[in-house]
Amino acid sequence: MVKIEEDERRLLDAALKVMKYAYVLWGFKVGAAVLARDGQVYEGCNVESWVSGLGTCAERCAVNHAVLHGNRGIEEVAMVMDARKQSQPQPCGACLQHIYDFAINPRIKIIMAKAERGRILFETVKVKTLEELFPFPYKK
Ligand code: THU
Repeated sequence: MVKIEEDERRLLDAALKVMKYAYVLWGFKVGAAVLARDGQVYEGCNVESWVSGLGTCAERCAVNHAVLHGNRGIEEVAMVMDARKQSQPQPCGACLQHIYDFAINPRIKIIMAKAERGRILFETVKVKTLEELFPFPYKK
């Protein structure tokens, strides 16, 4: 099990809290939270659509939530997904690019975990840097 700091626990809890609001039609629930440069935590959940490609992931929702409050510097990201699904908890490539676009640097931490019945499964927690997960971002 990975040992996490108090701040990371706080971010995971914030992601877990909003996972229940995910609008799921065909996939599974995901919650995310980002720590912005102003010290505030901004959450997001996935919002699906029957129209292919129209939905959004929890991580992009959380980043956009920070941006709409005037924050363009993301310092840390947490995401939590429903443990009943087989997939590994990890942001998709599109979200990693979006996180990269607003990250204060490529070394920010991404905390990932599964959750079940309103609890984080601490044995599933992984912490990686953005550059470990996404070594070749698109740059302007
Ligand atoms: N999803 C997220 O919200 N974040 C991720 O990191 C991976 C996938 C969403 C997209 C879709 O609504 C559902 O989870 C299944 O892929």
